[in-house]
Amino acid sequence: MDKKYYITTPIYYPSGSLHIGHCYCTVAADSIARYKRLRGYDVKFLTGTDEHGQKIEEKAKAAGVTPIEYVDNIVTGIKQLWKDLKITNDDFIRTTEERHEKIVQKIFTKLYEQGDIYKGEYEGKYCTPCESFWTETQLVDGKCPDCGREVKLVKEESYFFKLSKYQDRLLKYIEEHPDFIQPESRKNEMINNFIKPGLEDLCVSRTSFSWGIPVTFDPKHVIYVWLDALTNYITALGYLSDNDEEFKKYWPADLHLVGKEIVRFHTIIWPIMLMALDLPIPKQVFGHGWLVIGNGQKIGKSFGNYVPPQEYIEKYSLDAVRYYLLREVPFGSDGNFTEESLVNRTNSDLANDLGNLLSRTVAMIEKYFDGVVPEASQDDEFAKSLKETINNSIADIENYMDKLEIGKSLESVWNIISRANKYIDETMPWALAKDESKKQELATVMYNLAETLRIVSVLLRPYLAETPSKIWEQLGITDNTDWEDAKTFGLLKVGTKVKKGENLFPRIEVKPKEEVKDLPKKEEAPKSNDYITIDDFEKVKLKVAKVLEAEKVEGSDKLLKLKVSLGNEERQIVAGIQKYYEPSELIGKKLVIVANLKPIKLKGIESCGMVIAAGDGDIVKVLFVDDLVKEGEDVH
Ligand code: ME8
Ligand code: MG
Repeated sequence: MDKKYYITTPIYYPSGSLHIGHCYCTVAADSIARYKRLRGYDVKFLTGTDEHGQKIEEKAKAAGVTPIEYVDNIVTGIKQLWKDLKITNDDFIRTTEERHEKIVQKIFTKLYEQGDIYKGEYEGKYCTPCESFWTETQLVDGKCPDCGREVKLVKEESYFFKLSKYQDRLLKYIEEHPDFIQPESRKNEMINNFIKPGLEDLCVSRTSFSWGIPVTFDPKHVIYVWLDALTNYITALGYLSDNDEEFKKYWPADLHLVGKEIVRFHTIIWPIMLMALDLPIPKQVFGHGWLVIGNGQKIGKSFGNYVPPQEYIEKYSLDAVRYYLLREVPFGSDGNFTEESLVNRTNSDLANDLGNLLSRTVAMIEKYFDGVVPEASQDDEFAKSLKETINNSIADIENYMDKLEIGKSLESVWNIISRANKYIDETMPWALAKDESKKQELATVMYNLAETLRIVSVLLRPYLAETPSKIWEQLGITDNTDWEDAKTFGLLKVGTKVKKGENLFPRIEVKPKEEVKDLPKKEEAPKSNDYITIDDFEKVKLKVAKVLEAEKVEGSDKLLKLKVSLGNEERQIVAGIQKYYEPSELIGKKLVIVANLKPIKLKGIESCGMVIAAGDGDIVKVLFVDDLVKEGEDVH
């Protein structure tokens, strides 16, 4: 086979358990990999873990274990998670594996020997959680522009990689390869915000911690994490090893799928490293958006109400979760994750549209034709229109998948499903069944419905892991299930015996728990390059408020109900800080609230404003204001 397709996800930090945001990227990559396989490509789908660095070293220390013990444990959980999501990755690379470490050392040495890496002294600001160095101008209010946390001044002997030397070549490359950085908006951001202002050489080694790959010729240095991390995409293929067959076959990558916050590393540092190694550049880096909660906060590892992704699978089924992740948010944009919308999606698209279409069709074939698929005759206008929708939608699906518009491609599958449901309404089989002379018409309708379902089941194969075969079981089919088989209407054999089975997606009746929307947790703030103007800031009315009353919200272990005074006005605010404060501690204190936040109900209680707090995980502190400031004053 000569068509190959190499696709990767980021290698995730095993600094904690992964969350639904990581699943989002991996499930998307999985759908693309499955799709390409169905289209006849020889696919290599890689994921893995990025295990070195100071943060992991510190986490392990805090947990009282060695770094490798720490990551081994987390990685076991990650591998299980991918199994539970039925991810079809072909390989899983860990940066602590010998196949990786040895080659990274070789690469480092090679770049040093050819003069692209040199020794110097580093002085700069470092954000440990993000593993990123920042220049003064990149900092926002002196803090990390990615996550808003404190940065440390570090000064140490370091090796540097000559990014600057390749700057013009990179710019030319990007301009000549319009598909390299996608979506388009990210490309402009890279060019204008990073490359054009000038690239600084990159610090690629550290001496202040030891959990990393040692520099072979200067072992007090460990290789700094981005050089270690990015190379996974080629070490996993055996680059510079005794067996580099896969490297020859699959490199360059067709697609690096990454979150938007790391597009920068993948489209600046990585191609320059490859240029220095004289290797081809990947065909595309696609930066997808973030799943956010409540007020636009990115879901992060230290997210307050962390829910293990498996809980959603157990509660709503694997394919409900996969469908939701792929369908809800346009790929490339940020989107809100709520359990409520997951339930709504499942009920409307999966239970109502798809599940009912199958159960009605199978039930009618059983009732009217003893469960045997009858033969179709002449198409009427409805049948013609149904077939036309199928043909057009398949073309749309393929187009959208080529552009990685995964959600839209699923919408196109649902165009067929809706059209088929409409076909039932139009032809009214129950009425046809009452008239013996309409038997042939009825047979045609039944055949067309069953055949449409067969086609739909094929088209769902990239996205849903269990549903296609469940449909086949009920339709009684074992063949005509390849992608190309979706393009011929009429492959389903007359005489096939259908078999009623369980509902594909039972309606979810439980109301999801009310989501806590104002948890004062924040992993990553807007990126530096999404500057706001003073006018934007002034849209947020921050005011000093004095706490008059505070009590726990009944039935919640997170929420406190506060009554606050703004001088000339009293407000009720519900805040997710129960774990961190005794109600009595707050009474009489002055704090900062967002006064013009749209009121929402939490646990049925109206909340008119939001308390400002800072911190993560176990430590969250409300921002109190000096008692001299009067309640009701603006914070500016
Ligand atoms: O950055 N919404 O690892 P990481 C959507 N080790 N996607 C999200 C997300 C969210 N809320 N949160 C995380 C690293 N992701 C490096 C990568 S690659 C050579 C090294 C996804 O554990 C998204 O794809 O922080 C993001 O880029 C990735 O997880 C970051 O994972
Ligand atoms: Mg991150």
